[in-house]
Amino acid sequence: MTVSSAPGKVYLFGEHAVVYGEPAVPCAVERRATVSVTARDDDHVRVRAEDLSLNGFTVEYRGSTGDHPDVDVPAPLVEAAMGYIDAAVAQARDAADAPDAGFDITVESDIPLGAGLGSSAAVVVAGIDAATRELGVELSPREIAERAYRAEHEVQDGQASRADTFCSAMGGAVRVEGDDCRTIDAPPLPFVIGFDGGAGDTGALVAGVRSLREEYDFAADTVSTIGDIVRRGETLLAEADPDADEPPEELLSELGRFMNFNHGLLEALGVSSRSLDSMVWAAREAGSYGAKLTGAGGGGCIVALDPTPETQTGLQFTPGCEDAFRAELATEGVRLEE
Ligand code: MEV
Repeated sequence: MTVSSAPGKVYLFGEHAVVYGEPAVPCAVERRATVSVTARDDDHVRVRAEDLSLNGFTVEYRGSTGDHPDVDVPAPLVEAAMGYIDAAVAQARDAADAPDAGFDITVESDIPLGAGLGSSAAVVVAGIDAATRELGVELSPREIAERAYRAEHEVQDGQASRADTFCSAMGGAVRVEGDDCRTIDAPPLPFVIGFDGGAGDTGALVAGVRSLREEYDFAADTVSTIGDIVRRGETLLAEADPDADEPPEELLSELGRFMNFNHGLLEALGVSSRSLDSMVWAAREAGSYGAKLTGAGGGGCIVALDPTPETQTGLQFTPGCEDAFRAELATEGVRLEE
């Protein structure tokens, strides 16, 4: 058996605008998907998922195309999760030149599903790593990022950006601009995440911004202003000491201001929600340096910067917040667990 894990991520800056070629800065966070893979003697794939907000499920199929029989959990969620797992299996078979390879796969994840924390990317990245290693092939994190991107691209009908998969595979802070992805230095940023228990519809939210941007100049300007904020945020990170034990207060304060601006602009683009706004305001009132939604929006998660316990406590008592937790910057991306 081979076990690999990969982290989820938050967007420090730049979601949605990244779709139009502006830069974005996602950061990997210490919440991981863990995928265990055992090669089989036949070409069947058996998938068991735990902790995926699905009450767990088990699916078995034969050959290369997942035809998933009835399972005792909400079918659309299972279909969505299986779409990513099928695509990861296809990438692993291709990388190892083993089209008939069969696997027993177990997925465990402590990343909320579809909530803006890159849960699917983490499952795909860890799955490709574990399945290829199980077939005797060791891919570099960059190769895994590329294959995981192709997998997500296929599942999401060409709508995926490279941000989630690259960040999950490489770890740390990342800069994404179009097809150009690289890791950048960042001090240990004290992230706090608030989760409303829901999930936005990424496709619909991206389509909504697209039509707003086509219809109104203000929306096109808003998208390019988000790009300006990202560039300023990047400059702040580039000037910071990446080896500092703690980021200086002035840095957190400036990054937090830009996160607040970024949230306001995302709200103007119509991708926030009542629960996301309540959590953002609760985080600010609890003393965080700044807070914004992360990911596509519409529901899901916010990210705040606060090294103290105050924001997490404040969020826990906020109506609409189902869970609040710390998630430090994950310096390691995909890794072999055993
Ligand atoms: C979704 O996590 C982030 C978006 O920018 C879409 C994407 O980049 O693929 C909204």
